[in-house]
Amino acid sequence: MKVLVLNGSPKSERSNTMNLTHAFLNGAEWTDAEIIDVEKAHVKGCLGCFVCWNQTPGKCVINDGMAEILAKIIAADVIVWSFPLYYFGVPGEMKNLIDRQLPLNLPSQQKHLVISTCGFWTAKGNYDAVIPMFDHFFGNGNYTTIFCGQGELFRVPELKSRTDAYLEIVRRAGAEYAGGGIHPETQEELAAPLYPRGSFEKMANASWGIPNDGDVGIPGDNSLNFTIQMAALYRPDGVERIVEFQYTDIGKTYQILLTKQGSEVITDGFKPYTTRIETPYSVWSAIARNEISGQDALFQRLYKVLGDFNLMLRWDELFGAPAPSKPNDIKSRRKTNMMVLLMPWIAIWTAIAINPAVGGTIGIVIAASVPLLWLVFRPVVYEQISVPIVAGLSLAVLFGTDIRLVVSGSYLIFGLIWTIGAFPKIPLTAHYSAVNYGEEKAFDNPLFISINRILTAAWGGLYLVTPIWTYMLMDTGFSPYIGLINSVLPALMGIFTSWFQKWYPARWARG
Ligand SMILES: Cc1cc2nc3c(=O)[nH]c(=O)nc-3n(C[C@H](O)[C@H](O)[C@H](O)COP(=O)(O)O)c2cc1C
Repeated sequence: MKVLVLNGSPKSERSNTMNLTHAFLNGAEWTDAEIIDVEKAHVKGCLGCFVCWNQTPGKCVINDGMAEILAKIIAADVIVWSFPLYYFGVPGEMKNLIDRQLPLNLPSQQKHLVISTCGFWTAKGNYDAVIPMFDHFFGNGNYTTIFCGQGELFRVPELKSRTDAYLEIVRRAGAEYAGGGIHPETQEELAAPLYPRGSFEKMANASWGIPNDGDVGIPGDNSLNFTIQMAALYRPDGVERIVEFQYTDIGKTYQILLTKQGSEVITDGFKPYTTRIETPYSVWSAIARNEISGQDALFQRLYKVLGDFNLMLRWDELFGAPAPSKPNDIKSRRKTNMMVLLMPWIAIWTAIAINPAVGGTIGIVIAASVPLLWLVFRPVVYEQISVPIVAGLSLAVLFGTDIRLVVSGSYLIFGLIWTIGAFPKIPLTAHYSAVNYGEEKAFDNPLFISINRILTAAWGGLYLVTPIWTYMLMDTGFSPYIGLINSVLPALMGIFTSWFQKWYPARWARG
């Protein structure tokens, strides 16, 4: 497949639009596409002499690089028209190239793609002059378009997580196009603005040093404009908060008032803060540029957080890029569920103590049904180990082994599994709690891993000592209630776990 890209941006490879075009080419796996920078080709304007029609058919009188481009256009199977929107049209150089196609009888079997970014907040209505022009060239509906507003955001490193999410959609569009056509849902996602109009306009104003209502933008003061841009990304959640930023390396302090309606940055007349972030400006802007993860920076104590830490736990949700819709394979990926691990154990702890024969049978049935649950939930190695152990213990009971030994022994084995589970790179509980912290991404977060290591070890320790009183109590009248008695401590541990998950990072953040 011969793919020719006509890059109409005078910025060559620094073009915003070419970000989209490259993502599309990657998605379509057209890695050997030829790219022509129209600006560098110095294509002169058409003279309108019609010599190419009536005297030298197919040959233009102007002797410049266009003859070579025409040959490439003829040879290509797919032509990608990549350009920025200039005054509701195509840039002049590209228009020259379009005009100079006059000597051609355009081969009708070629496929055409039109990819363009523009500066306004939406592409809607902006291409009203461009679309009819391409309709005339290729016929209405005979070509594919990707028009993207807020194009200048592709050069803002601080917004990379959002623009990357958009480029991922473009990449998917490329793959779908190569496989037959871009799906309507993908088209819809491509047409959605990167940021809501209000946020975009605030950010754009801040980048030009134009004050927004209520804000005091100062041209040339990066830290203030940066803070205003960050505030513009805020998605209100109905809670009023005041976030104070103290940039320790440049000695500047700002407050962002987060209200139910939006956000506002103030530089004096400060109010009592809800959350205060003490950070070098260089660190916070590096986090915004995705050069370092916020969690890593916190773990390395590069910044401190005072006051309410909850805001930090929800930072991505409140200030981050809107989550791109996930490709189907990730969407349908099974999640882990800790109940799958606990269920067979709880069954034998409670049922065997009440009635050995019934309990042993229940243990075997539940252990045997765990593989069925793996059709719905993603299996974790500790569940795979548990199934034969629980089945073995249940069988032992049915063959007459002392239930006192089996029940206490089962707590000991469970405790050992958890204690050992605290040592691997990904501790046991992390496999389950990652579901709430961005799945596999959480495994790269040292704070997440260390919280889970501590929790797994604490739970392991609890179950290692449980057999001691279990063994003693099972010789008394409490024996049938042992399952119930042993649920009290884990319930308290559960409360401790949810408290610890919040307390530990907050304590760390206070420095
Ligand atoms: C001369 C000129 C005219 C422009 N006209 C428009 C316009 O009519 N509508 C718009 O939304 N953006 C307009 N823009 C903004 C560009 O389309 C936008 O910055 C685009 O993302 C640049 O893409 P590029 O980096 O691929 O060249 C214009 C920019 C320039 C320099």
